[in-house]
Amino acid sequence: STSFNPAGIRHVFRGTFVHSTPHCALQILEDALVGVDTDGKIAFVEKGEDLSRFVIDFNLSDIIQLSQHEFFMPGLVDTHIHAAQYSYAGTALDLPLLQWLNTYTFPVESQFKDLDFARKVYKQVVKRTLRNGTTTACYFATIHTNASLLLGEIANEFGQRALVGKVCMDRNPSVKHYKETLHESQEETCRFIAELLDKKYPLVKPVVTPRFAPSCTGALLGQLGAIAKNNNLHIQSHISENQEEVELVKDIFPESESYTDVYYKYNLLTDKTIMAHGCYLSNEELALFKETGASLSHCPNSNISLCSGILNVRNVLKHNVKLGLGTDVAGGYSASLLDALRRAQDSSKVLAMQDPELEPLSFEEAFRLATLGGSQALSLDGQIGNFEVGKDFDALRVNLLVPGGPIDLIQHEEAKVLVEKFLNLGDDRNIVEVFVAGRRVVPFTDSKSD
Ligand code: GUN
Ligand code: FE
Repeated sequence: STSFNPAGIRHVFRGTFVHSTPHCALQILEDALVGVDTDGKIAFVEKGEDLSRFVIDFNLSDIIQLSQHEFFMPGLVDTHIHAAQYSYAGTALDLPLLQWLNTYTFPVESQFKDLDFARKVYKQVVKRTLRNGTTTACYFATIHTNASLLLGEIANEFGQRALVGKVCMDRNPSVKHYKETLHESQEETCRFIAELLDKKYPLVKPVVTPRFAPSCTGALLGQLGAIAKNNNLHIQSHISENQEEVELVKDIFPESESYTDVYYKYNLLTDKTIMAHGCYLSNEELALFKETGASLSHCPNSNISLCSGILNVRNVLKHNVKLGLGTDVAGGYSASLLDALRRAQDSSKVLAMQDPELEPLSFEEAFRLATLGGSQALSLDGQIGNFEVGKDFDALRVNLLVPGGPIDLIQHEEAKVLVEKFLNLGDDRNIVEVFVAGRRVVPFTDSKSD
């Protein structure tokens, strides 16, 4: 049943592999034999006990055998993170969204005009998220084109798959120096896209990034919609995160029926659009997401930390809207998608306590949101998200029992227990290797570890 050229195989692993499919939130493949080809793609996924069919092709010593307390899982997908805000992650969580933006965010983002500062922060955020197992990140940078290009360069250098957005905003009544003119925003977005594509980084793509409706004039939103359409690009923004923000959008765009309708009118809701938050979307708005193929990024740490609201994930899933998880650093203070996965479960349990009709998210469903769900939300599920043959091998080698690590096992446990324990108790110490497109990117090579 297999046809592959053994000479084209780069790695063969044997052990437990766990992943999600659209029909099964947690599928466990015990004693699997997985081959990765020299292009970084999954060449085969077989039962390990059928090894005899492969011995003619491989030296047994070439097969990397996982231990009893290890497994491979798909890389984590962070569908929403502000790379520039990493500099103040873990602080400044005492104000609601709009005041938080004016007081902390805009002054810090202004500093990314300085490329040396940008390089420092962007290297740190790429390295930290990779160590935390984020193989794909969908980044907001700042309004500065050159610094945004630098973020793409650094993601490429460290081997992280990334969508990178130069932020667009031609309206900022509070911090007057941190904005662009309509013309600048449009010209610089085109320059950013052209120059990033020109670099031909294999894992990095540009995203059209209006910050959110209150930061943009209708004219800018319309131009960005056209740029995305003409170049078939991804789009990212924020929507319905906080009630005061929703009211502000009603005031600024009185002709629109809803927040979602603002983006829809300007051709910013497509099947390559990802919108962060969506806590206050109506069922009609969710139906418009479903109809257009646009997706949501659920960022529970941010939603709690900024007292924004709690997304009803069950209702989003019921509407068949594509959904992934995001850290939303620095509104979310953790740059770990494991944290997002845990808080997504806590949030859904809080809602279930208030409404016994609601079924809380299971750990298996949270696992799927963090991996396959994220890949679907970013329209990358043809390429990543699980261990289907033909997809890129983006994977974490997880070891439950690392010296000095956070997890104890009292006895031998089945694979499902190992996964649940890692998701709830594990951290970067348990992520012993990270692969992106078949290349090992963690641990860092010596030249990258400083
Ligand atoms: N809405 C507009 N900009 C931002 C931002 O930087 N962070 C969050 N959480 N929401 C936003
Ligand atoms: Fe955000």
